[in-house]
Amino acid sequence: MENELQKSFPERMIIDVHSPETLKMFSNFQQVMMMYNCAIKEVRTKFEVLNDELSTMNNRNPIEMIKSRVKKPDSIVNKLMRRGYPLNIVSVLENLNDVAGVRVICSFVDDIYKIASMFSAQDDVTVLEVKDYIKHPKENGYRSYHMIVEVPVFFSNEKQNIKVEVQLRTIAMDFWASLEHTMKYKKNVENPDAIAMELKECADLITKADFKMQEINNRINKSVS
Ligand code: GTP
Ligand code: MG
Repeated sequence: MENELQKSFPERMIIDVHSPETLKMFSNFQQVMMMYNCAIKEVRTKFEVLNDELSTMNNRNPIEMIKSRVKKPDSIVNKLMRRGYPLNIVSVLENLNDVAGVRVICSFVDDIYKIASMFSAQDDVTVLEVKDYIKHPKENGYRSYHMIVEVPVFFSNEKQNIKVEVQLRTIAMDFWASLEHTMKYKKNVENPDAIAMELKECADLITKADFKMQEINNRINKSVS
């Protein structure tokens, strides 16, 4: 336990893990992490329900997979410090949008927009921010549809609005982003500029493939079964 607690903080912070203040802080921290986990469950269920309904209507699943994660304590502390925010729980709730993350992997680009719009229209979902990196890809080729949303979570005697970062992408976009992500965290990669250029080429190929697959799917669906 002691090691776990110490691991959660950068080395230069010295913490007395036995002091009542520290124990209180960690018990609060644990409670907030529990809230983020519950918010993830709420959001995942919303996407699962949409997927179930649409799959009975259209005979195929628009969502291939849903992944989710809660940000690790060391990443939370690092991000707060990097951005110059105070290191406390209120600061986490107020300043970080991505402690809870849900990634929805769709088959086709049109599914992303359909699912995102149905999810956003639900009256207990408040959309705080949208970044459409599909219509406006990043320079490195990254594509995905991002939303920061707030959902209410009902506990025994209170309701908490919790922020969740939602990323929607196709299988191909997810494949690309995973590979690109691994490069970011590797030191001493040989020829990083050449790799970045080749990744950009892959992103362009994937964009073409995603749109072509979409178009083929539209043509197949138009024909009578
Ligand atoms: P962060 O503070 O890093 O979360 O960035 P931001 O607040 O500007 O948010 P943005 O919506 O741009 O990115 C949020 C998340 O999207 C990141 O944490 C990654 O999971 C993903 N993402 C954004 N850009 C890239 C990228 O270039 N490559 C990959 N692989 N993932 C990305
Ligand atoms: Mg992030």
